[in-house]
Amino acid sequence: MNLNMQGLRAIVTGGSRGIGKAVMGNFLAEDMRLATCARGSVALDAAAEDWAKSTHPVFAKPLDVTDISAYEAWFTEALAHLGGLDVLVSNVSTLETQEGIDRWKNRFEVDLMQHIRLTELALPYLKKSASPSIVYVASIASVMTNNSPAELEYGSIKAALTSYAMKLANQVGQFNIRVNVVSPGPIVHKNGHWDVMKSKQPEFYDKVASLSAFNRLGTPEEVANPITFLSSPAASHITGTNLRVDGGTVKTVNF
Ligand SMILES: NC(=O)c1ccc[n+]([C@@H]2O[C@H](COP(=O)([O-])OP(=O)(O)OC[C@H]3O[C@@H](n4cnc5c(N)ncnc54)[C@H](OP(=O)(O)O)[C@@H]3O)[C@@H](O)[C@H]2O)c1
Repeated sequence: MNLNMQGLRAIVTGGSRGIGKAVMGNFLAEDMRLATCARGSVALDAAAEDWAKSTHPVFAKPLDVTDISAYEAWFTEALAHLGGLDVLVSNVSTLETQEGIDRWKNRFEVDLMQHIRLTELALPYLKKSASPSIVYVASIASVMTNNSPAELEYGSIKAALTSYAMKLANQVGQFNIRVNVVSPGPIVHKNGHWDVMKSKQPEFYDKVASLSAFNRLGTPEEVANPITFLSSPAASHITGTNLRVDGGTVKTVNF
């Protein structure tokens, strides 16, 4: 199957590691033009060294997506670099360090509002695209519980993001813009959350793995591949979908 993504212009947020980085790798293999961000410049610079080999230079600049004015400035620069926008993968989330009501406020900013602000910035450009698509990265934590300490805020706000995306899909369909959600189950990658849990709380890690039909966690590439497909013209009749990529962890039947 030809994904027909060559030359498409994409923003992938949080592209310095994990799922975002795997999406960047897939998109570069499709010869796309890319812009990305992350707060930490060390990981971003290290990733940029790999990306330097690609045909089109990648716009990669440090940014905290919760800084509203910085995000607008970053977006303007990114768009000047790309020359337009066809594909948006809004992927950033952050492990919280706050407690109580501050944790809720942080989740609201990181897992909902920054996605919405980016969408508002992107829509005028996506309306001009011949193949416009948005994918939000949510989580199966919005539909299941495993009693982990942070899931109350994280899962609830990811559920709000998924609901927002489904409604947006209907509103922007008239412009041919497709809007989908990918909801990963637990995904392990070097130095990521579950990699740390594996050494700190191996029993909990094994319990989480056992919930999957495959008795293991997923990889960033296993999430990046469906994100790539959904972002591509090959998925031209798919919008308003929430695709779980969880190795069968959520056991409900999807009629
Ligand atoms: N991994 C899992 O098990 C899992 C499960 C379900 C859903 N998800 C979802 O999948 C997405 C990606 O997860 P992941 O595991 O790949 O995450 P990750 O390894 O923590 O990577 C997140 C990326 O976003 C960047 N980032 C974080 N906060 C940021 C901020 N405030 N401003 C700008 N960039 C920021 C990070 O770089 P810096 O830290 O340097 O900023 C990094 O590039 C998230 O939406 C997450 O909720 C993950």
